[in-house]
This record gives sequence, structure tokens and C-alpha cells, in this order.
Amino acid sequence: MAGPAARDPRSIDAVLRHRGGNDRFRSSDDSVRLGDIVLRNRLVTSSSLLGYGVSNSAVVPYGMSPISTFVPLAEFGAVTTRTLTVEPREGHFTTRDDYVLRELPGLLKRYGTVLRGTDGGWLNAFGWCNVGIDAYLRHYYPRTRDQRVIISLGGFSAAEFATLVDRVNAAVPAGEIAAVELNVSCHNVNFDFTTILQDVLDEAVHRSNHPVILKLSPDYDYLHNARQAAAAGVSALTAINTVKALRLDPRTGTPWLANRYGGLSGRAIKPIGLRVVSELRESGVTLPIIATGGIRTMDDCREYFWAGADAVSLGSATWLASYPGYALAPLRALQVRRLLKAVRRYEPLQVGTAAPWR
Ligand SMILES: Cc1cc2nc3c(=O)[nH]c(=O)nc-3n(C[C@H](O)[C@H](O)[C@H](O)COP(=O)(O)O)c2cc1C
Repeated sequence: MAGPAARDPRSIDAVLRHRGGNDRFRSSDDSVRLGDIVLRNRLVTSSSLLGYGVSNSAVVPYGMSPISTFVPLAEFGAVTTRTLTVEPREGHFTTRDDYVLRELPGLLKRYGTVLRGTDGGWLNAFGWCNVGIDAYLRHYYPRTRDQRVIISLGGFSAAEFATLVDRVNAAVPAGEIAAVELNVSCHNVNFDFTTILQDVLDEAVHRSNHPVILKLSPDYDYLHNARQAAAAGVSALTAINTVKALRLDPRTGTPWLANRYGGLSGRAIKPIGLRVVSELRESGVTLPIIATGGIRTMDDCREYFWAGADAVSLGSATWLASYPGYALAPLRALQVRRLLKAVRRYEPLQVGTAAPWR
């Protein structure tokens, strides 16, 4: 087993104490520990919704939420990157994020084939389009020095996950990021991750210099997957990834998305996320849980804390709106800032005294 400094609880104190010139080590009263994972507070952002934490274009900040202009990302407990693969992947969309204004109409048209609003939520099938781990570590990660970062990793074999973990180990000193998150639960890359999950855990977890989070799918046997994760030495769980879903044009039967199936996110899946978190606790899972699924308000967060979550994560709510709705980004950003304040003030002991799993 690896014994990296960041995974030794004693060294977490060192991480919290260390200040130096690097804001990644910033310690504050709001800092929370989920096992060996140190977050700045209990409100993080879910994988992909804030891209890589920075954009390459000032004109069309593709991959970045409009609210990121108005909410300092360093304020979040952590920002989880888009899922990164060993090689760059076009997926069902594009790896480019340097669009200029005249390309906007074409971009929006393609966008409509990978992301649509539906039934109180959003259906997406980006298919892991991303610049690849090397480009991320070289060109994006260094520009997010003020943020607490969770790096999301995705692959189709245990060997790919091992390579990804090795690349992060080589580029990022232990303690500099909050964790790596293994995405072995995505429905729009058309792959049955249950066939590789155990191998991925066996290969990737012990070699990571950073705490490891496993992201669970509500469509898999998540109680079993959580037990596998605990046995492999995973530090925390993220619950839930999007729910596999489909919409068709009622007149023609044509699927809305180019990939036919997509992942459902947003308000529509909050009850499912709550069910999963609650069932994990009821089944005796004691790993810290970062809950994501339809969270927008402090009441949503409270529900998830009651259900058994240790931290909460904003996904669709940080970003997705109808295009006219984007004009309201400053207002939405204000709500997010208020939510951040409320989560910081939230007293988790209130949960601990009543919750049966603690
Ligand atoms: C447009 C979009 C892209 C996403 N991409 C990823 C991804 O690359 N990796 C991942 O683990 N989850 C991804 N997700 C899932 C989110 O991280 C989150 O788990 C899910 O959306 C549930 O939270 P929400 O209902 O608050 O959006 C994506 C979600 C959306 C809406």
C-alpha cells in the first residue's frame, strides 16, 4: 500500500498548518476533514460543471459556468474538474474551448445534441470530451492555484486508471489537491463499468499519493460498490452520478441526444440522490459521502445532511439554465454566495446527534 504523506492523518495537520506562498494549503476555520480529505468547507462543485476551473477564452467561456465570473471558485470547499482521460477525447462534443464569437451559432447547434433541458432536469451526453490528463496538468491546473481541487479521472480499464493516477502523482505533490475522484459510473460513454470496477480499485487506490473518492452510479449496485470501495481503501464516496435516461421526439421517435441515452441531472434526481445516500447509511457504509443530485438551496443541503451526507455538491445548479436564463447569472451567483455562507455556518453536530449512522 502506498503511504503518501497526504494520506497520513498526521500530515493533514501539517497541510493545514502550512501556508507558504501556495494558497492550496490555505487553512481556515471552515476547513473540514472527511477522513484524510481536507475541504475548505462542506460545499463543493460536481465534476465537469466548472470545467477545468479556468477557461481559455474570455469571449465564450466554454466549459465554464457564467456564474464563475461572479463567484470566486476559491470559495468552494473544492472544485471538481471535468473527467480527464489518458488521451484527449472528442467524446460526443469537442475538446476545444477557445471559441470566438462568430463560431457561436454552430457551437450552440452542436450543443443541443449533447445537452437538453427536460422534466425538471437536464439530459446530457458529452461523452467525456476533455483535453486529456497531460494537457490539463500542464495548461490548466497551474492556473487554479487559488482553488482547492478534486481531479476527476475516467478510463475504460484498470491500466488506464493506473496511468492517470501515476500522472497526477508525478505532477502534483501530496497534499496539494483535495483528492482524485474515480469516475467509474458514467452512462454516456456506453461502457459497462461494473466489469472493471474491482480491478480499478485494486490498481488505482493504493498507488495514489492523494486521497481517492469513488463516484457512485444510482444505476449500478451502489451498496455493493461502496463496500468494494471501503475494502480497497477509498477515502470517500460521491453520490450520485447522473441517472441513465432517454427522451424521444414524440412525433418521429428520434432521440433528443446524438448518443440516444444520456445522464439525467438537476432537480429531477434529488429524490433519487437522497434515496441513495440514505440507503448507503442504512446499509452500514461509514465512508464520508459527498452528496450531489439536484442541490440548489440550503434546504436541499439540509435534506442531504439528514440523509447522511458529510458534504454537498453543486452540479447543474452552478451552470445550467435556458440561454435567456444565463442573463440572470449575476443573480444566481448571488444565491450561490449566500448558499456558501449558509453551509459554512451550518453546524454538522446537529446532524450528528440525531443521525443513526454516526
Ligand atoms: C453537463 C454535465 C456534464 C457532466 N460531466 C460529468 C463528468 O465529466 N464526470 C462526472 O463524474 N460527472 C459528470 N456529470 C455529473 C455531475 O458531476 C453530477 O454528479 C450530476 O450532474 C448530479 O448533480 P446535479 O443534479 O446537481 O447536476 C455531469 C453533469 C452534467 C449536467
